[in-house]
Amino acid sequence: MTPLTGVDGLVDDAAERVAACMSDEALRSAAAELLGKRSLLAGAHRSLGTLEPDDRRAAGRQLHEARSRIEHLVADRHQELARRARQRMLHDDRLDLTEVRPGPSRGRLHVVQRTRDELEDVFVGMGFVVEEGPEVETDWYNFEALNIPPAHPARGMWDTFYLDLGDPETILLRTHTSPVQIRVMEAQPPPIYAVMPGRCYRRDTPDARHIPIFHQIEGLVVDRHVTFAHLAGTIETFTTAYFGPNIHSRLRPAYFPFTEPSAEFEVTCTICQGSGCRTCSQTGWIELGGCGMVDPAVLRAVGLDADTWSGFAFGFGIDRCAQMRHQIPDMRILLENDLRYLRQI
Ligand code: DAH
Repeated sequence: MTPLTGVDGLVDDAAERVAACMSDEALRSAAAELLGKRSLLAGAHRSLGTLEPDDRRAAGRQLHEARSRIEHLVADRHQELARRARQRMLHDDRLDLTEVRPGPSRGRLHVVQRTRDELEDVFVGMGFVVEEGPEVETDWYNFEALNIPPAHPARGMWDTFYLDLGDPETILLRTHTSPVQIRVMEAQPPPIYAVMPGRCYRRDTPDARHIPIFHQIEGLVVDRHVTFAHLAGTIETFTTAYFGPNIHSRLRPAYFPFTEPSAEFEVTCTICQGSGCRTCSQTGWIELGGCGMVDPAVLRAVGLDADTWSGFAFGFGIDRCAQMRHQIPDMRILLENDLRYLRQI
């Protein structure tokens, strides 16, 4: 016989109440309500005195059991809440070392600098040394020693920035890296196998294929018995090493005052691999630079015996190489330093 009715219901209600507690604080006040002096359980306990002794004992046991079950429920819930809190804390504190977070990005070399480094590597691999010369030059190095006397019509090939220094039009920003040829020949006797990279300046209006500040790499070989075949072979070897085996070079007759004969050299268009496209005006070829056999007048300008020594030279745009290699539609991008673009190349 059940001396007290509704005790099971009391425990069931308590279980529901406890399970709904989401914090220690809520659990504490629920426990006070369920087990404290003003709880239904305590009320039932107080009314035990009205029962017969036998019933009282049975009901007492029943209430005791109910209390201990509710106490267990509270204790279990307390543990569960503590477990969850700890889990939350571990989750918040975790350090995921594999996680990639967008943060301040690392810097990298500008594409022109990377291209220059790569070109130097190719030529060093072919046995050349790397030399440098000044960006501010005299008329002598930039023009005269290169067989371009004052008022020579070929000066029109280079629109020049002059500096307001010394006599008018004597100090300038170099328009090409060719003056470094002269400095290298002055500084050391042949044999010479050197490349000379650097920044150049021309009074050009910027457009998709021209920028007024650009970079060239010059090449110079002076030795005995150097022939045009050596020049052509060097350019083809460089082209394949830098652009890959599918890209070739060809030479077209041209004029430069410091080489004779002179040629322009072109490489297979990297955009269409030679089949013809808009970039190469459907020719399949892109002009990269100039080259030729060093003119005897240039050798004489630095005091070399033109009967003993011969040589070849070449010069081409580093920015143009970068443009070809990375398919950069507009060269002005290289000067604008827009990180949104530079990060992509
Ligand atoms: N300096 C020439 C230019 O800027 C390019 C050039 C042509 C360099 C022929 C050379 C060469 O060394 O032999 O247009």
